[in-house]
Amino acid sequence: MRKILVTSALPYANGPIHLGHLVEYIQTDIWARFQRLHGEDCTYVCADDAHGTPIMLRAQQEGITPEALIERMSQEHQADFADFLIGFDNYYSTHSPENREFASLIYLRARDAGHIDKRTIKQAYDPEAKMFLPDRFIKGECPRCGAPDQYGDSCEVCGATYAPTELKNPVSVISGATPIEKESEHYFFKLGDFEEMLRDWTRSGPVQPEIQHKLDEWFENGLADWDISRDAPYWGFEIPDAPGKYLYVWLDAPIGYLASFKNYCDRTGKDFDEYWKPDSTTEVHHFIGKDIAYFHTLFFPATLEAGGFRKPTAVHCHGFLTVNGQKMSKSRGTFIQARTYLNHLAPEYLRYYFAAKLGPGIDDIDLSLDDFKARVNSDLVGKLVNIASRCAGFISKRFEGKLCATLDDALYQQAIGKADTIAALYEKREFGHAMREIMALADQANQYIDEEKPWVLIKEAEKAAHVQHTCTTGLNLFRVLMIYLKPVLPALATKVEAFLDAGELTWADLEKPLTDHAINRFKPLLTRVEQESLDAIIEDTRQAVADMAAQQESAAKVSGPLADEPIADEIAFPDFAKLDLRVARISKAEHVEGADKLLRLTLDLGGETRNVFAGIKSAYAPEDLEGRLTVMVANLAPRKMRFGVSEGMVLAAGPGGKELFILSPDEGAQPGMRVK
Ligand code: MSP
Ligand code: ZN
Repeated sequence: MRKILVTSALPYANGPIHLGHLVEYIQTDIWARFQRLHGEDCTYVCADDAHGTPIMLRAQQEGITPEALIERMSQEHQADFADFLIGFDNYYSTHSPENREFASLIYLRARDAGHIDKRTIKQAYDPEAKMFLPDRFIKGECPRCGAPDQYGDSCEVCGATYAPTELKNPVSVISGATPIEKESEHYFFKLGDFEEMLRDWTRSGPVQPEIQHKLDEWFENGLADWDISRDAPYWGFEIPDAPGKYLYVWLDAPIGYLASFKNYCDRTGKDFDEYWKPDSTTEVHHFIGKDIAYFHTLFFPATLEAGGFRKPTAVHCHGFLTVNGQKMSKSRGTFIQARTYLNHLAPEYLRYYFAAKLGPGIDDIDLSLDDFKARVNSDLVGKLVNIASRCAGFISKRFEGKLCATLDDALYQQAIGKADTIAALYEKREFGHAMREIMALADQANQYIDEEKPWVLIKEAEKAAHVQHTCTTGLNLFRVLMIYLKPVLPALATKVEAFLDAGELTWADLEKPLTDHAINRFKPLLTRVEQESLDAIIEDTRQAVADMAAQQESAAKVSGPLADEPIADEIAFPDFAKLDLRVARISKAEHVEGADKLLRLTLDLGGETRNVFAGIKSAYAPEDLEGRLTVMVANLAPRKMRFGVSEGMVLAAGPGGKELFILSPDEGAQPGMRVK
C-alpha cells in the first residue's frame, strides 16, 4: 500500500471560492478519492492562506480584526468545499501555532547555514498610511503608453512591466497619497545557493514537461535572491530574530501544507516524520495552478531543503478556467462563485464536467455553459443513470427485487477488463480520457439493453428468466461504471450503494458481480440540468458582483453626515462677511396655533428683541428652550409667513425630525455678541 499525502493550493482568506478555484480542488479530490478507492493510504490536507497585506487591509476596511476576518472566511470556504464534496482529511489555517513553529524553524536553519542575507533597499512608502506599499497598491500612469490608473508592476493596456518607481503620477491605493521612497533593511533567502539541488531535483521527474521548460528558462535567467521580509505593519509571523520584521506571506504559505498535516497527525496518531523526513519513502503530491509554479518548484523546495525536510514527489500544475471561451469576468456575469452555483445546481454536475475536461497538462479549460448542459444531460442522465432506470423497475416489480444467479459474462468481463486502463488514467490525471472510456462502456450497456428489449420480452411469460438475466447484467454493468465513477461522483455512489444494498463500492468489488442478491427499490438518481438554472446562476453572479462593487464603493467613501450632505460650492470671503451672526437668548418659546413644525421664539439680542419662527418643534419642547443662549442670523431680510413675520433665523444642525440640534455658544457669551 502506498502512503500518499496530497495537497491543493491554499486559497487566500480575503475572497470567496469561485469556479476557477474549483478546477483545482475538484481535480485534487478526484485524484485523492481514486487513490483511496484503489486501496492506497491517501491523506488530503489543505488550509486557508491567512496572511499578507490584502487580508490586513480588508479587515481594516471592514473594521474588524484580521483574526475575525480569517475565521469568517475559513468557515465560508469550508462550507463551499464541503458542499462540493471536497473530502479534505484536514482543513487548517496558515495562521496557526504549528505553522509559526515550522516557518520559524526553517528560517532559523536557513539563517544558521548562511542562506539568509540582509541588505537595505529602497521601496515605495505611503507617508499617510505609514506603511510600505506592495506593487499592487500603487497606481499611476504607465511609463510606456501613458494609460492612466495602472498598477505598480504592469500595464493592462500595453502589457509593459516595470518597477513601481517608474509610474508617472503615482498614488497609494490605500490613502491616495503620493508615495515616497524610503529605505529599510530586508532579509533575503539566497535561492542561488540551491541551484544545483534544484536543477537535479526538477530533472528527476516531479514536474510536467511544460513546467520543466519554464524551469529551464528560469535557471537560464539566474535564480535571484528572494526578499522574504516585510516591515510592520504587516499581518503575518514576526521573524524570530528581527522584531518589527515579518515573514513574507509566500514564505509561510506552502509551509502551511506541513502545518496542516502536522495538525492532522497530532489528531489521529499518524506519523508526521515518516512523511517529511529527508529520506522518506512516502509520497507527497502538490496540486496547484500554473500561476504559482515558481513558488512551488523553486522557492518551496529550497526552503524545505534548508529546513531539513524532504522535497515533494510531484508538483502537478493545471491551467486556468475560462467561461464561454473567455477569462472569467465580473461584467459578463461569469465570475461565478461556488455558492452561487450551489444555490441552483448540484455539485456533481460540475465535478463530472471538469473531470471530462481535465487532462494532465497546463492548458486552460473552458466551461461553456451550453456544452456543460448538453454533456451532463447526455452522459450522466441519458447514458449512465438510464442504464439503472431501464433495468431496476423490472427487477423490483417482477422479480421481488432479486438479481438472478447468472449474467452476461462476456459483457461483464469486457467492462471490468478496462479497470487497469482506467486506473492508470486516473493515476496520470488523464481524467477526460478516463471519462470517455467509461462513457463508451455506458454506450455498450445501453446498446445491450436496446437489443435485449426487456420491455417487449416481459410480456411473454416464458421469457421472464431472460428478462431477469438481462436486467441483472444491466445493473451489474451499471455497478461497474459507478465504481469507476465513484471518485468523481461520490454522492451519487452513496445513493447507488443504498440502492444495491451490498455495502460500499470498492475497486476490489469489480471482481465480484452482484448475483442472487436482493436490491432496494430504485429512486431517481439525477435530474437534468435545466437552462433556467444556468440563467439564474449568471443573473445571480451579476447581482453578486454589483453588490460587491457597491459595498466597496461605500466602504471607500466617507459615510455619515458629510456623505449625506456634501460640502457646498466654495464662496469668497466677502460673501461670508455679509452674514451677521449674533448670540441671542431665547427669552420665550411657544407653540403656534395650526403649525405642526414651527415654534415662535422671542430672541433677546441684548438691546433689541426679534420675533423668529423656527422649524424645530419636532426636536424641542418650548420649555426646553426658554432661557438658553443660541446663535441667529440677525441681518436676514424679514420674511412674511402664514403666522406672522419672521425677523431672522436660528442656526441648527442635523437632517431633521428629532435629529435637530440648535447651536449654543460656550459659557460666557453675551446676547448680542457677533459670531465671526
Ligand atoms: N494563496 C495562494 C496559494 C498558496 S499555496 C501555498 C493562492 N491562492 S488563490 O486563492 O489565488 O488560488 C488558489 C488556487 O486556485 C491556485 O492554485 C490558483 O492557481 C487556483 N486558481 C485561482 N483561480 C483560478 C482559475 N480561474 N482557474 C483555475 N485555477 C485557479 O494562489
Ligand atoms: Zn502601458
